[in-house]
Amino acid sequence: MAVTRLWGSDPLGAISGRDDVSERRRLPLREIANYYCSHNGLFRVIPQKIKERRNSQIKPRILIPSAEIEAGVTRLATDIRRDYQGVNLILISILKGSFIFTADLIRRLDLALEVHFVQLSSYGKKTESAGKVQLVQPLQCSIKGRHILVVEDIVDAGYTISFIMEYLRGEQPASLKLCALADKPSRRLIPVTIDYLGFTVPDKFIVGYGIDWDEKFRNLPDICALEDEG
Ligand code: PRP
Repeated sequence: MAVTRLWGSDPLGAISGRDDVSERRRLPLREIANYYCSHNGLFRVIPQKIKERRNSQIKPRILIPSAEIEAGVTRLATDIRRDYQGVNLILISILKGSFIFTADLIRRLDLALEVHFVQLSSYGKKTESAGKVQLVQPLQCSIKGRHILVVEDIVDAGYTISFIMEYLRGEQPASLKLCALADKPSRRLIPVTIDYLGFTVPDKFIVGYGIDWDEKFRNLPDICALEDEG
């Protein structure tokens, strides 16, 4: 993937590479969010080999079967339960991709917790990360002084999770951790710390168990890789 940077006055600096932390801290979060929502042209992806293909040519192949996912989610829930005993936890689920993972995870968490949602978007109809993040639905609650666990389906380049972690950190929670179902470290462009990880996946386009390609395949019970049979 080639990413062309179109420089502008990126107030967060998280993606543009500027690292003026003091400047970032002075900016109201709403302004940062509005900026990213309105600057869709900040980055442009130049697809090299990827073209729009007919859906019939794209076939999912099972990478992680549902029974393995179930065992992985149970393991994550055990670790989270152990670490958050006696804590009023807030889970923040990143829509849309993590809706199934979140639903399965919380039913295994015997803890006092709340679940809230934000919706972010980084991919279009492509199989490459767009390198930009849109805040489609912001957080609807205050998290100041609260213990926060972000629930994400997959960390790929890292744009999405870096964006939301920075956004949430600015809201001054008591603690902020990340639980990700899947990690694709081979594609990472922005460093990300994953506190609770389900699975490491290869450098293939992943779908199923909530994760889509062009809004399709979210309903597959297994985690699959898309293969082009065209
Ligand atoms: C996908 C996925 C992650 C993100 C990972 O979401 O669900 O949130 O991309 O990519 P990154 O690490 O390169 O940023 P997407 O933007 O496709 O939206 P969705 O969750 O609604 O499918």
